Formats: sequence, C-alpha cells, structure tokens
Amino acid sequence: MSLNRDDMLRELELLPVWKLRELPSPGREAAAPQTQVPVSEEPGPAPEPVQQQVAEVAPLPDLIEMKVEVIAKVNAEPAVFAENRLERIRHLDWPALQRCVQDCVACELSATRTQTVFGVGDPHAEWLFVGEAPGVEEDRKGEPFVGQAGKLLDNMLAAIKLKRGQNTYIANIMKCRPPENRDPHRGEIAQCEPFLERQVALMQPKLILALGRVAAQTLLQTDATVAELRGRLHSYNGVPVIITYHPAYLLRNLADKARAWEDLCYARRTMQELQAATQV
Ligand code: URA
Repeated sequence: MSLNRDDMLRELELLPVWKLRELPSPGREAAAPQTQVPVSEEPGPAPEPVQQQVAEVAPLPDLIEMKVEVIAKVNAEPAVFAENRLERIRHLDWPALQRCVQDCVACELSATRTQTVFGVGDPHAEWLFVGEAPGVEEDRKGEPFVGQAGKLLDNMLAAIKLKRGQNTYIANIMKCRPPENRDPHRGEIAQCEPFLERQVALMQPKLILALGRVAAQTLLQTDATVAELRGRLHSYNGVPVIITYHPAYLLRNLADKARAWEDLCYARRTMQELQAATQV
C-alpha cells in the first residue's frame, strides 16, 4: 500500500499542522505556483509586491522531526520520574522511609494489601534477616514472619542464640502481600527493593541472611538457585550476605533442614569473625 503525503501525516497524527508563511515577492520566485498573480492581457502598472500570508503545512522532514522529538520526550519522562523516586528514597531517614512505605502505591499490590509490612526489630541490629513477602497473617498484623514460617524462623534464631528484636532485624524484599501468595512479579520487586536498599544503608548491619530464592536472587541480582548460592559469602551494597532456605520451604522439605542448620552455623562463625575484625 502506498501512502500519499496527507495519509502519511495523518498516520503520524500530525494533521493539521499549520504555520504562517510569508510569500516571496513574485519577482523572486515566479515559478512557484502559490505566487501566481492574475496577469492582465493589457500592459498596465507593475503590480505592488504581494505580501500575502497563507496557511501552509510545514515541510514533511520538519514534521517527522517534531514527532520524533515528542515521542522521545514522552518516553523519557517515566525514566525521569523513576529516577526522582529512587533519589528521594535514597535520602529518607528511618521514620520518613516508614511513612513512604506506608503511603506507597507504586505497584498494584497496594490495591489488595491490608497494610504494608516494613520490618520488625532493632534498626541498629548487626543481624538482618530478609524474607520474600508478607503472607496473609503478616498482612493482617503488619509484622513479618508471624505465621507458621515465622515460628520456624524464631526457632532458627534461637538455635544460634538470637531472639527476634534483640540485635536482629527482620524484613522482606516486598512490603506488600502478593495476592494468593503468588511470587512477586519482577516489576513489583523493582518498585519495592529500593525500600530495603535504604533500610540496609541506614542500618548498616554486619551480616544479612537471605531466606529463600526470591530474597537471594533479588539481593544478588542473579537467577542462580539457593542450592547454588549457599555455603559462601556474597555481598549486597558492601554488606556480607549468606544464603539459606526459606523457613516455609523447610516446613515442606524436612531433608533440607540439616543444610539450613549448616548455613546457620556458617552465619554464626562469619558474624564472630566480622565482630572480631571490627574490634581490632
Ligand atoms: N514469608 C516471608 O518471606 N516473609 C514473611 O514475612 C512471611 C512469610
């Protein structure tokens, strides 16, 4: 199908675009069709130079350039907004960050949550435990890991002589519950992770224990599995990270509890080393 100029302009949503143009005097551009002035058969006085204004469509290359500029601007703006949002989050203090999370409507999870779940514990703790997302009970209570998986997490803490709220902080990658306990989508994680990033920057914990695949993959920006990632020290924005299984997974896969126990022992040893290193 071949398009004529008008079809093409319409297709580009550029019609009608008008600009006022001054016509050149007839003497200078006698050949241009718009400049034709009725010529009398009779010789007579030379016509006055015509200063006529006509509406004319801008040249096609100009219009295409204008269109390209508009599209580039429209596409750039969400990136600018996103960048501004990240910049704002990066400068919040703890109470402002809590308010920002409470008011967040950056993804569709805000529509189905009962409340946001910021985290629980001592914001100056050396230990940070990071899970995936609130479940139904956490959504109801506004506290992470309060269901069955939470009971197991408390037992895991006790196994290495820790207690919820004492030198520990527990948070999730996601601050809102995904409906039906589905996995959070990539876009939702991208909107929410800056909150955890700011929590970590403000807390400066000595060690992060990432619980399960979503926490591990988000913090380490990888698609590797928990099995592949556990047993060695990683880093998240300069903070050492150890990966272990999610308590909810362990409730269903008892055989991996022994591996989780190894991870906890490894974490405890690592913390002792980190504490010793900062005491020197
Ligand atoms: N699972 C998580 O990952 N986080 C919670 O807060 C509860 C269950």
